[in-house]
Amino acid sequence: MALWSGRFTEDVSEFTQRFGASLPVDKQLYEQDIAGSKAHARMLGKQGVISQDDVDAIEAGLDRVKARIDAGDFPFDINDEDIHMSVEKALIEDIGEPGARLHTGRSRNDQVVTDTRLYVKKRCVDLMEANLKLRRVLVDQAKAHPDVILPGYTHMQHAQPVLLSHHLLAYYWMFERDFKRLSAARDAADACPLGSAALAGTTYPLDRRMTADELGFSRVTPNSLDAVSDRDFVLDLLYACSVSSMHLSRLAEEMVLWSTSEFGFITLSDSFSTGSSIMPQKKNPDFAELVRGKTGRVIGDLVGMLVTMKALPLAYNKDLQEDKEGVIDAARTLEDCCVCMAGMLSTLTVNEDAMRAQAEKGYLAATDVADYLAKKGMPFRRAHAIVGHLVLLCDQRGCDLKDLSIDDFKAESDLFEPDIIEALDLREIVRARTTEGGTGDAAVAEQMKKVERTLAADEQELASEEPDASDAPEA
Ligand code: ARG
Repeated sequence: MALWSGRFTEDVSEFTQRFGASLPVDKQLYEQDIAGSKAHARMLGKQGVISQDDVDAIEAGLDRVKARIDAGDFPFDINDEDIHMSVEKALIEDIGEPGARLHTGRSRNDQVVTDTRLYVKKRCVDLMEANLKLRRVLVDQAKAHPDVILPGYTHMQHAQPVLLSHHLLAYYWMFERDFKRLSAARDAADACPLGSAALAGTTYPLDRRMTADELGFSRVTPNSLDAVSDRDFVLDLLYACSVSSMHLSRLAEEMVLWSTSEFGFITLSDSFSTGSSIMPQKKNPDFAELVRGKTGRVIGDLVGMLVTMKALPLAYNKDLQEDKEGVIDAARTLEDCCVCMAGMLSTLTVNEDAMRAQAEKGYLAATDVADYLAKKGMPFRRAHAIVGHLVLLCDQRGCDLKDLSIDDFKAESDLFEPDIIEALDLREIVRARTTEGGTGDAAVAEQMKKVERTLAADEQELASEEPDASDAPEA
């Protein structure tokens, strides 16, 4: 019979026991559960609700339970329903009556959400770390290829030449914003619900701020009904994971595309490729595809949790037990994808010549030829039409703009002079894009300074991160 079975005369069926249990999932939160119980016990002792002897026995007992779980030597039993019951039962078996006093002034409703908040805070920090490593790899690759030009695309059609470093840094900024979202999710989780009890608070003289401090929370939740039923902080992390996964999927898609024989812009290392069981020649970008594909499940985790929360009345409802599986999955998936992408990026080979050769195709200089005329006084719209005409001429002749003679140019406008040849040079075209945030070498060098500043600031934020109570070494 369960610890709560006093008013029951019959046991639940084996099926409903298994159906209702969250233990297979929430046993992963045992460190948070034990840290929360120790903090609660110390607070009960300080407030005179239980004796100091009881506190000492509880702490020592919980340490022994933790050591057994750490060692993989704990008899998890589905009949215990969840991690809270498992730990409490083992504690009572170990130390007897003092263990049975632990749950004074507490409910599993405030206990589970405390554990989940501690877990979410920790995983946010883990993901911020993985995010920083990935950003560092992008920056290193951008720095390693300062001169490489490739076609920039709109509508997947050749548009204007850009620097590879600029292209890579575009992803840097996506992940920089993801770091902020993870940091915000961490702050959202940073409030302690203990003391809310089942839903209404409790009659014991609890010191909520002491428990919060002990557990490394910066504040306490302000409303007990909200506290036991709020999972916004879970949604915040799921959203942060979803956006970051979406960013990874965009990068992964380019890795897949760029490694095709049609593009040939990059060669993935063997360690980030797989072969085919039937086609001996194949080298497939499986891991980029998996990163792209796993985005679906992360977004699914977010949508699933939103739908679980929809129309949920106050306060605790068992529906809320569905909160942990998705967030555990989303965080692990994103963490793995960041590690995978960082490894893939740092080991790939950039095929500069292939990028350059493609940049020579598709009239990437056309805008600059129009600008050449506009800078000599022609309204840009007319210049645009003239260059459109020249492109048509090239199409008909099967040549590029730089294959046209000065006479061909002059036939369209007198403003063309022999120096038009310089306007067609890709290197110059790139260099001339000096606007802040543009692809010109000088602008990218300026951008790189901002990149380094944000990287240093975020590394600093992470370094100053206090380890949460469940990470703290045993005293
Ligand atoms: N296993 C439960 C969960 O994850 C713990 C809280 C149970 N509370 C209750 N009143 N049944 O939500």
